[in-house]
Amino acid sequence: MIDTLKQHLAEVEAFSSTSKDEIEAFRIKYLGKKGLLNSFFAEFKNVPNGQKKEFGQAINQLKTSANEKVNTLKQAVENQSETQGKYGDLTRPGEPIEIGARHPISIVKNRIINIFSRIGFNVSEGPEIEDDWHNFTALNLPEYHPARDMQDTFFIQTDPDILLRTHTSSVQVRYMENNRPPIRTISPGRVYRNEAISARSHCFFHQVEGLYVDKDVSFADLKQTLQYFTSEMFGKSKIRLRPSYFPFTEPSAEVDVYWGLETETDYKMTKGTGWLEIMGCGMVDPNVLQNCGIDPEVYSGFAFGMGIDRIALLLHQIPDIRLLSENDIRFLDQFKSSL
Ligand code: DAH
Repeated sequence: MIDTLKQHLAEVEAFSSTSKDEIEAFRIKYLGKKGLLNSFFAEFKNVPNGQKKEFGQAINQLKTSANEKVNTLKQAVENQSETQGKYGDLTRPGEPIEIGARHPISIVKNRIINIFSRIGFNVSEGPEIEDDWHNFTALNLPEYHPARDMQDTFFIQTDPDILLRTHTSSVQVRYMENNRPPIRTISPGRVYRNEAISARSHCFFHQVEGLYVDKDVSFADLKQTLQYFTSEMFGKSKIRLRPSYFPFTEPSAEVDVYWGLETETDYKMTKGTGWLEIMGCGMVDPNVLQNCGIDPEVYSGFAFGMGIDRIALLLHQIPDIRLLSENDIRFLDQFKSSL
C-alpha cells in the first residue's frame, strides 16, 4: 500500500502539462470527489494500527503535492496566454476604434471648394485678426462710411486699427495686392460680428468669398458661374438676382435659388415663396481694383460671398446655429456617413 502511494507521489511530481484540459483531468484524477486521494483516505481505516502513522503522512504529502502541482501548472498556463507573442492573445475580442465624423461646416466648405476648383478657382486664406484697410477701407468703405454700420465689428480695445474680420472680403484685397490677373480664387474662413447669439445668428460664423478678375469679365460670366454653382451644390439651376447694395461691388445683387415648393420643409425653408437667398455678389467696384493696384481700365471682375453655416443649416435641416459650435458628440456623430 505504502509503495502504491509512493509511486503516485513520484507520478505527481513528474507530471507536467501546458494544456488546460490535461491539468483538469489530472486534478480530477487525484483531487476530485471520486479521486485517488479520497479513496486512499477511505482506505485509512483498514490500515493496521502500526502503519497508520506512516500511511497518514504519505497521503497528506500526496495531497499537498497534487494541490501544488495543479496550482503552479494552472498559473503558468494563464501567464503564458497573456504574454503570448508580441501582441498578446490574438484570439481575444478586439477593442473597436471609434470612427470620427467630419464637421458639417467642413462638409459644406469642402463641397464648395470642390465645385469651384473644377472651374479653375484656387483656395486662398487670410488672417482672422485684420486691419482696417483690408476689412474696410480698401473695400470702398472709408472711415465714417455709413455702410460700416451694416457689420457690428469687434475691435481690439487698445488699437482701433486692428479688428476681427467681419467678412472674408478682406482676403480679396490681400489676394489682389499680391497676385496679378487672371485671378480666380475662393477664400473660405471664419468671420466675427458683435451680434446677439440666438438660434439664427452667432458672433462667429464662416463664409466663402469668390473673386474673378481678368480682361473682359462681365456680369454674364458672374451669372453663369453662379448658375453652375447652384446646380452642382443644390441640384437647382434656376436663380434670380435681385439688385442690392455692397460698397465693394457695382452693380451689386443678392442671389436667390429657386428651391421649389414640393414638401412642407420647402415651405418652411423658403417661407412659402419657393426662393432661398444664398449669397451676395456683384462686379468688383473699380475703386477696389485701384486700391489693390489693379488698373480698372484694363481689368474687370466679379465677386461673391456666402455664409457656410447658413447653407449647412439648410442642407442638413439643423434647427439651431449654436449646435455647430457646441461640440456635442451626439450632434456631431450624426454626420459620420457624410463625405
Ligand atoms: N461681404 C459680404 C457680407 O459679409 C458678402 C459679399 C457680398 C461678398 C457681395 C462679396 C460680394 O464679395 O460681392 O455680407
